[in-house]
Order: sequence, then C-alpha cells, then structure tokens
Amino acid sequence: MAEGNWHAADIDRVIVGEDQIRDKVDELAKQVAADYATADSVLLVGVLKGAVMFMADFARALGRHGPPVEMEFMAVSSYGQGTTSSGVVRILKDLDSDIAGRHVIVVEDIVDSGLTLSWLMKYLQSRRAASVEVVALLRKPDAVKVTVPVKYVGFDIPNEFVVGYGLDYSERYREVPYVGVLRKSVYAQS
Ligand code: PRP
Repeated sequence: MAEGNWHAADIDRVIVGEDQIRDKVDELAKQVAADYATADSVLLVGVLKGAVMFMADFARALGRHGPPVEMEFMAVSSYGQGTTSSGVVRILKDLDSDIAGRHVIVVEDIVDSGLTLSWLMKYLQSRRAASVEVVALLRKPDAVKVTVPVKYVGFDIPNEFVVGYGLDYSERYREVPYVGVLRKSVYAQS
C-alpha cells in the first residue's frame, strides 16, 4: 500500500516548488486583472486534463483580483505517431457555450511543442471570440516547434520529463503538489 508522499522517491529534483507556484499564480492573476480591468468578465478555457490544478488556483486568484470569471473546459487529443505530436488535433470535449464576443483566456499547464495551442488559438478565433490570449504556467522553450504568442507565462523550464501539478506520466503524478523531473528509472522500466 502506498504511503503519504510515495512519489518523492520517483522525483529526481523539484523544478518549481509549491510556494513558487502559489506566488506565480497570484502574480499572473494580478497581471491579467490589470489588463482586463475594464472587461465585464473573462472566459477561462481550461485544457483537460493537465490544466485542472492551474485552472482551479488561477481562477481563485482572479477571484481575489478581478474581473469576474466564467469557466469552460475543452479536451483535445493530438493525432501523433508515438510520442511525436503531429499538430492535428481532435476535439474530445468541445465548449459548452457560444464564445462569440467573449474575452477568452486559454489556461494551459504547459506549452511544449506549441502544436496543441497553435491549433486551439485558431479554433477559438474561428468561433469569433472578441479576444484570445493564453496563460501557461510552464513553457519549454527548447521544445518549441511552432511559435505561439503566449502572453502570460509562469516559468520557462528545461526540456526534461516533468510531472506534477496536473502533469502526468501514464496518468499518474497529477496530484503531486509541485513540478518535478521524473526519474528516468521510472519510465525506463515500462
Ligand atoms: C499536454 C499539455 C498540453 C499539451 C502541450 O497535454 O497539457 O495540453 O500537452 O503539448 P504541445 O505544446 O506539444 O502541444 P496532453 O496531451 O499530455 O494531455 P493531458 O493534459 O490530458 O495530460
């Protein structure tokens, strides 16, 4: 039976700690609140599943700083070969509401190749949003294949296999409260 903090042994090193995440989420929310001070509301679009933790914390931080928030979630899947994303995206869960005229902010846990986001931005613009911006907690500059204008970025991180705070390896580690590099021995076994 796994005990509390079972995951510590699988993590090589912490890249972004819990306190750093909390401070950065608040800082990003303050920036967004200032930029959207005159907006009636913003529509946060979270990209499942990785963004759930960031979405929950970021929405609450915006609740402290304003403006009013509404939330939507999308789930998408890349048609890729193996681990390589092709940039062609399939919608698994679409928006529930019409976003025409809305100020949309896409909430992403990580921008890796940028392919998911690049596709998503075009999709949301085609749905006639008034504006579409992106807030991403993490970005891997060395992994980028397509440049996407991400207005709000939390941390640029090295191109390593990271898990935690929503990010998974084989659906595990999402609940880990910090972002850390997964030990190679964990994924070399399978
Ligand atoms: C991850 C992450 C982003 C995307 C980024 O999602 O949450 O949505 O990949 O990668 P990209 O910049 O190379 O397109 P994933 O497809 O692993 O699904 P998940 O969030 O359900 O884990």
